[in-house]
Amino acid sequence: MTIKTAVIPAAGLGTRFLPVTKSVPKELLPILDKPMLQYVVEEAAEAGIERVIVVISEGKESIASYFQPQPALEQRLSDSGAADLADKVKQASELAQVSFVIQDQPLGLGHAVLTAEEAVGGEPFVVILPDDIIAHTPGVVAQMLEVHQKRGSSVVAVEPMPWEVIHNYGVVDATALEDRVYQVHRLVEKPVREQAPSNLTIVGRYILPPEIFSCLRRTPPGARGEIQLTDGLGILLEDHEILAYEFLGTRYDGGTPLGLLRASLEFALAREDTREAARALLKSLQ
Ligand code: G1P
Repeated sequence: MTIKTAVIPAAGLGTRFLPVTKSVPKELLPILDKPMLQYVVEEAAEAGIERVIVVISEGKESIASYFQPQPALEQRLSDSGAADLADKVKQASELAQVSFVIQDQPLGLGHAVLTAEEAVGGEPFVVILPDDIIAHTPGVVAQMLEVHQKRGSSVVAVEPMPWEVIHNYGVVDATALEDRVYQVHRLVEKPVREQAPSNLTIVGRYILPPEIFSCLRRTPPGARGEIQLTDGLGILLEDHEILAYEFLGTRYDGGTPLGLLRASLEFALAREDTREAARALLKSLQ
């Protein structure tokens, strides 16, 4: 079955970006001229996803308005001869059918995904964490769907990380099956280094069956007292195969100011219209 639905959790407080996140949701902070959220919706659309459900919390309604068409602004830009800008304004609302659900309590990532249950319906779906910006063509969701189609299993994206930072991530205990694909035996959320089963960390892309929802309902609070998606996956593993996929691409941590700065610089160097100016800027700083 082809997967057409993605859930994007975007309900967090964005504390690492305070004070700006007092009034601007973290997911709308830009890499150059586009919000982080748009990059991940583009990655989903490129993989054939047609329906995107964004989980927001109260006070983050500006995320919903970003995806609304703005015909008056488009008209004004077209009338003044700026058709290219009018196209840019249109892009976000044309990528997919985007809808919103509200997570009314900050109970964790697993709980945020559970909030989307009714909107998802009883089908397999993709979860994309908008903090994890990954540059590659084809995108990581498209790469993972290919792995999923071969065996019909759940898939989590993973990346080997230095042992010093393992405690910030979910980690898998897994054995290699084929190039870049591992069989998952166990998952641990934010382990202390000594208890981490490997250095293969979970990155924010998941392909999940609808059975994950009943697992999440049975998931007790874990790391940080929150209902963790990783722990829900641990319950799912009792009777479902989960594969880990080591993706192709460069991951940027859009969850921290410096990670976002790095993404901005590297994207500016990669993009044709900004490359030269970005090179000159970096040179002038050395
Ligand atoms: C979340 C997940 C974690 C994963 C990480 C990837 O953690 O709980 O398993 O490794 O995203 O970015 P968070 O970054 O929300 O603390």
